[in-house]
Amino acid sequence: MNTIDIPKGWDQVAERIKQDTKLCVVVGKIDSGKSTLCKYLVNTWTASGIRVGYVDSDLGQSTLGLPATVGLKIFNTPPHESDYANPAHMHFVGNTAPEGFLLQMLHAVKTMADKSRQEGSKITLVDTTGFIEGPVARILKLHKIEMLRPQWILALQAEDEMEHLLSGYEKMGWQVMRLGCSKRVISRSQTERQKYRSEKYKAYFRGAKIVECSMHKVVFPACIIGTGQRIHPPELPRDAGIQGMNHLYVEKCGNELLIMADRMDTSMPFYKLKGYFGVTSVVFIERHGLKDLLVGLNDNDNNTMGLGTINDFDPFAGKLTLFTPVYDFHMVATIRLGVLKLERGEKEYGKTRVIQYV
Ligand SMILES: Nc1ncnc2c1ncn2[C@@H]1O[C@H](COP(=O)(O)OP(=O)(O)O)[C@@H](O)[C@H]1O
Ligand SMILES: [Mg+2]
Repeated sequence: MNTIDIPKGWDQVAERIKQDTKLCVVVGKIDSGKSTLCKYLVNTWTASGIRVGYVDSDLGQSTLGLPATVGLKIFNTPPHESDYANPAHMHFVGNTAPEGFLLQMLHAVKTMADKSRQEGSKITLVDTTGFIEGPVARILKLHKIEMLRPQWILALQAEDEMEHLLSGYEKMGWQVMRLGCSKRVISRSQTERQKYRSEKYKAYFRGAKIVECSMHKVVFPACIIGTGQRIHPPELPRDAGIQGMNHLYVEKCGNELLIMADRMDTSMPFYKLKGYFGVTSVVFIERHGLKDLLVGLNDNDNNTMGLGTINDFDPFAGKLTLFTPVYDFHMVATIRLGVLKLERGEKEYGKTRVIQYV
């Protein structure tokens, strides 16, 4: 607490918001001091006996829990730094930025904010990503605000970089409070950000094991696999030139045809398959692309039980092998695919969209 620089006015802001607030959202660009301000507010409010739910939706540099997730922890007393490490709840989004995961992001934030209220928080404080520029950020942030309906929006800005959002919020009747950034703000390099995430993954996957599960027992909301009718090689059109291809797993459900092969082959006559099977879309999954993919493991109530990485996916045997510390694996109902590839449960080495509509 004594390492936080408390600029003039922060104490009055904390006092003012405390009076009549159920939910407060903190916004600002990357490295504007959002998480530090949240820590200050959590400390100040809990010190005066208020139960505070801290929802951390900063996917890239989360204070609470793991990257690519939204976390929640409820505090009754001023926490120590180490208390932020393990969130009580988390919800998997799939990327270290909202890009490509806007719905998942909104859903995760709403789920965690609702849980905070259900668990008796007097104030829920929502920390956000620094994604503020451009129309997509504007739309995402606005929907987040309309969904959460905060009594206060706390905006940290160095100059006027948040005004393209804030002036609209005010016109719509939302209460906005502007704060300047602390002089002690330190910008972190990409390498430092990556290192921070690696440490988080490493600590999380320390006790992980390889587990096997039947793909028929779980649902992959991002694709039809395991829900449709298997198409065997002799059922494929003779003139498509794919009958002899090795390791071609094909499944049809509704208007969709799913093809999983070891690697993408652009010479595959997808249009012919569409016509032959009378489907409107063909989805292609590169089996090798699934290796090391970070996934969210959710239970029947859509709570994220934990994360894992895919070790292998063998659709012919109907078997999925994962590396995960989740021990009650039999309770996993859905597997949410992200875009991050993680080496040995520790280091991000790329991003990939494994599901391709062709
Ligand atoms: N008020 C402050 N007092 C001391 N250090 C600060 C303050 N605000 C930010 N910092 C430092 O600047 C860096 C970025 O701040 P952080 O709160 O993580 O930003 P954000 O959450 O907006 O990305 C951190 O290292 C933090 O310690
Ligand atoms: Mg932050």
